Amino acid sequence: MGKYTLSVIKADVGGWVGHSDVHPDLLAKADERMAQAKSSGLIVDYYRSKVGDDIVFIMTHQKGPDSEEIHKFCWDSFVAITEVAKKLSQYGAGQDLLSDAFSGNVKGMGPGCAEFDIDVRPAEPIIVYAADKTEPGAWNMPLYKMFADPFNTIGLVIDKGMHDGFKFRVHDLRDHKEVVFSLPEEMYDMLVFIGAPSRFVIKNVMRKSNDEIVAATSTQKLHEIAGRYVGKDDPVMIVRCQSGLPAVGEALEPFAFPHTVAGWMRGSHHGPLMPVGTADDTPTRFDGPPRVVALGFQLTQDGILGTPRDMFADRSYDNARQTALDVADYLRRHGPFEPHRLGLDEMEYTTMPEVMEKLKDRFVKAED
Ligand code: F6R
Ligand code: MG
Ligand code: MG
Repeated sequence: MGKYTLSVIKADVGGWVGHSDVHPDLLAKADERMAQAKSSGLIVDYYRSKVGDDIVFIMTHQKGPDSEEIHKFCWDSFVAITEVAKKLSQYGAGQDLLSDAFSGNVKGMGPGCAEFDIDVRPAEPIIVYAADKTEPGAWNMPLYKMFADPFNTIGLVIDKGMHDGFKFRVHDLRDHKEVVFSLPEEMYDMLVFIGAPSRFVIKNVMRKSNDEIVAATSTQKLHEIAGRYVGKDDPVMIVRCQSGLPAVGEALEPFAFPHTVAGWMRGSHHGPLMPVGTADDTPTRFDGPPRVVALGFQLTQDGILGTPRDMFADRSYDNARQTALDVADYLRRHGPFEPHRLGLDEMEYTTMPEVMEKLKDRFVKAED
């Protein structure tokens, strides 16, 4: 079997218009860079995708995860695309590039990254998800449903290869620690943590038999890196499917419920995560609502990604979209009030501390 690394690296380096989309000239530069990476032999294959104002590089190569060469090429590509963005006065040009110089790995420098090695099976269905106007914890509920909830994934009950469950690696984004849970035995323990997706995020799902990674997310949080609100950490996720793993339909099913996520308008509001085809990946209303696209690939044994299928373009997601639009209406009517607006803890990286500081002397002891 061919062994390849699948790397998905994304960044927002300029929006067209505001934070709603990416200008075609930026996408053309991204395509040019990816074609160069392939023709030079750096990568085996690629598909250049996007969601909202984010450009997504989906790449197969044989350099392993965290390859400096791959990460540097992507970083340099984002820098080159930023130049085009600046010329066209795109909004927030270079927004996600938090450093002036590359230092070995894009992680911790702004771009999001999900990657792992794959021993490619004779037929290897893979779904790459990308979301805009939300944060890495948005994947917690869908991943839990795919790999641990029999009401979503009947394979956990009736497929011998899945019946023992899976392991989940969970990152604590605040204290920079990780912990591995074994499910279903530790389901309740894990839910204590992943039910708080702003801090605890599922990084990987692994097979129990050999710890092979079968799903990965990007867990980079910009405010953890920059120490203040500098934009959104719109996340990506990779899920391998079928034959002892969730069927493609089981990996898509969680998104039939447009669950509530953080990240809408100014990264400070909750909203429904709306599944959309790539033609509709342009957050518009109140800079949203947050949305997710899913690209399906049949990866070949030569590491070729081939033509993706636009999975959420299917009309079976129409009801989810309608629900999301109804929930968006309902939440918007809260205006600046919670729970539409994020809770105080999560507002910590916005203007809230400055307003508090400005008013601190006007706060006097209350009578009772
Ligand atoms: C949300 C998002 C947008 C911006 C908003 C303000 O994740 O990206 O809602 O936060 O458009 O943008 P700035 O601060 O650039 O004016
Ligand atoms: Mg943006
Ligand atoms: Mg974005």
